[in-house]
Amino acid sequence: MTTVDLEDPARRGADLAEPSPQLPGALPANRRRLGAVQVVRTRAELDAVRNGLTGRVVLVPTMGALHGGHRALIRAARALGEHVIVSIFVNPTQFGAGEDLHRYPRTPWADLDICTDEGVAVVFMPETDEVYGPGLGIRVDGTELANRMEGAVRPGHFSGVLTVVAKLFGMVAPAAAVFGEKDYQQLVLIRAMSRELALRVEVHSIPTVRETDGMALSSRNRYLDGHQRVVARALSRALRAGATAAVHGRSSVLAAAQEVLDAEPELTVDYLALTDPQLGPAQESGPARLLVAARLGTTRLIDNLAVTLGTDR
Ligand code: PAJ
Repeated sequence: MTTVDLEDPARRGADLAEPSPQLPGALPANRRRLGAVQVVRTRAELDAVRNGLTGRVVLVPTMGALHGGHRALIRAARALGEHVIVSIFVNPTQFGAGEDLHRYPRTPWADLDICTDEGVAVVFMPETDEVYGPGLGIRVDGTELANRMEGAVRPGHFSGVLTVVAKLFGMVAPAAAVFGEKDYQQLVLIRAMSRELALRVEVHSIPTVRETDGMALSSRNRYLDGHQRVVARALSRALRAGATAAVHGRSSVLAAAQEVLDAEPELTVDYLALTDPQLGPAQESGPARLLVAARLGTTRLIDNLAVTLGTDR
């Protein structure tokens, strides 16, 4: 049996630079359990494969560095249709100047291993030019909601996200697509875009997948060293403290969450916000969303949780 080091950086660039590489054939035989995943790198290759698929196609857009959260998305997608297409594209237009575009983790071999393992039909891994050029550079704007919270800290971020997701919807033409609640503001905006631009793609979501200590899985967690990883738990702890205090109303939620965050001076909090489930102003009682973003060293972390507000003051 041939063994392939999926993380070997020497293999990565070289193999992925080949046009239309038959990557699954290069994967170890024991990793091909659920059959071969087809890897396509151009719109033309995607069209050729897509046209041969009958039944519902479900898209899972990602930026790679796949983890358990992405696995859960793929499993949800498999339950929604006959064929799952995963896109892996580190989208430059959603990163601001000085953000982590160039150090964003890239693990294509491990990603393909996961996709093969999860029974994905097609992985679409385009180059930037394949997605963005040539053309007039038409973009999708995200309205007022795109300029609050994540959008306030990362100007232009959601325009980049919405533009690439609209392009992926157009290229893949899926019946449905699945996104994580982990990026809650992104989810709300994509759902609105699909509906308001009549893109005819059902937008589904799954709850955030967490480590046993409560920390949300994220590709960016691998930036954290051991100590920072412990400090980072404060985000999910703050959200849980807020959810527990929710019976006492809105101000108790924010106070309880803030207290947990204040106990970790290494965290620089970008925002802590309590909203309604659509990200409008929180009502007095009933369903609400608690969202947090913080920086820890050079790493930016976000998390959010559903809370139910009570009036027991
Ligand atoms: P990425 O960060 O790779 O995330 C891809 C999808 O995985 C998103 O829908 C995200 O919400 C979901 N996800 C990430 N961590 C998760 C977790 N712990 N539990 C559940 N779902 C999780 O989000 C993006 O990429 C990009 O903005 C993209 C939509 C692909 C556009 O470029």
